[in-house]
Amino acid sequence: MAHKSNSKKPVKKGHPTEYFDYVGDDLCVDGTLSIQKIIQKTGTPTYIYSAQAMLQPLRELQDALANLPHLICFAVKSNSNLHVLKLMAVAGAGMDLVSSGELKRALKAGVDPQKIVFSGVGKTRDEMREGIQAGILSFNVESIPELELLNEVARDLGVVAPVALRFNPDVDAKTHPYISTGLKKNKFGLDRSEILSVVENLKKKKLAFISLKGISIHIGSQILELSPLKDSFVRLRKLVDQIEKVLPGALEFVDLGGGIGITYDREKPLPIAKYAEAIQETFGEKAGLKRPLRIILEPGRSLVGNAGVLVTEVLFRKVRNSRDFLIVDAAMNDLMRPALYGSFHAVVPAQKKKSQGATRTTDIVGPVCESSDCFASGRKLSKRIQPGDHLAILSAGAYGFSMSSSYNTRPRPPEVLVENGTFRMIRRRETHEDLLAAEENL
Ligand code: LLP
Repeated sequence: MAHKSNSKKPVKKGHPTEYFDYVGDDLCVDGTLSIQKIIQKTGTPTYIYSAQAMLQPLRELQDALANLPHLICFAVKSNSNLHVLKLMAVAGAGMDLVSSGELKRALKAGVDPQKIVFSGVGKTRDEMREGIQAGILSFNVESIPELELLNEVARDLGVVAPVALRFNPDVDAKTHPYISTGLKKNKFGLDRSEILSVVENLKKKKLAFISLKGISIHIGSQILELSPLKDSFVRLRKLVDQIEKVLPGALEFVDLGGGIGITYDREKPLPIAKYAEAIQETFGEKAGLKRPLRIILEPGRSLVGNAGVLVTEVLFRKVRNSRDFLIVDAAMNDLMRPALYGSFHAVVPAQKKKSQGATRTTDIVGPVCESSDCFASGRKLSKRIQPGDHLAILSAGAYGFSMSSSYNTRPRPPEVLVENGTFRMIRRRETHEDLLAAEENL
């Protein structure tokens, strides 16, 4: 649902301001609750999420796949707050996770273990044991040694472990190299010949404590083009057909990973309908499969990226000849995407009037002693923004809090969830005591 902005222009769907826009002079969440009102209670810096903004893309994806057996497993790493996980789970989502910590979170949030897939290139013996004991749907296995270890762990527990082999289709996702994962040179997944040799071994009843249930892929994140995804689906489909010949009827699902990109600046995200169409073409009713395979997806960013902002207070304006610096109370430890990837986040003032009038070329920077501690560089921003004013860093719902740290012994910010016109703290602000507690045996 697109909210009306103050100017009565419908806000573009999927835009960072769809759920965070001005009503009168106030930046509001869901067109109802002012950011200013929230931070009066919480202080700054603070993460603020819109539940509605998280659920809307999930529903869209569920609807687009309605005529196929499917399961949407939310990528926990993108936003792992228990309340966010619960919100997703109640709306029917499963979880894609990568550590026993994330497994604990998912179980605590009430996620059905049969809706959990466990991804990651480096699972430990303990993590395997915990996943098996929880009764998860599948381990997405990424190497032969990992498969052998899982076989051993399952044997010791006297059970058979459900497995999807992660296929590296050698496709360029055309995204930032740090988050591109589907090329041969990347550390992820198994290639076609490795998978086929595992399948032969399974046929010969080697690896007796492994049950092959599916094949998974994930070629990267913040993907904006359909063609690499389509390519990887087609390659996966070919592999599925090859496996079917050796182990007919074995596969129950294909896991197509996550990776759909969002608008941070002017990017045009893939329409969900087109994405779903590509899935239907390769794995749908008319795709010539002998049996329907369940489709699993692992979206993170596309569900929560534009559902969250990080609100920060301006501490100082430092005037220089060429540009001004707005020094704010959030830092790279709170939101590290700009420092780590040079990624763009739109920044808007909490009061609309602070975006008007004459501008200055401005950098918005944190207090940490690293030049990469910069949220926005070379922006034309109003001179009216002054110390004490608040700014919202948009598109911070995915890989924001979840990648935060306490670098500089800075307690991490609280998280707030807005739902049905009210807000609640879903994580309190960390304290110095929290940070020191694990070291206090001096
Ligand atoms: N499945 C697997 C196996 C993954 O590795 C990932 C993300 C996802 C699903 C979810 O991808 P998404 O739908 O969110 O694109 N920290 C980076 C992103 C790292 C993504 C890692 N893998 C960032 O802030 O851009």
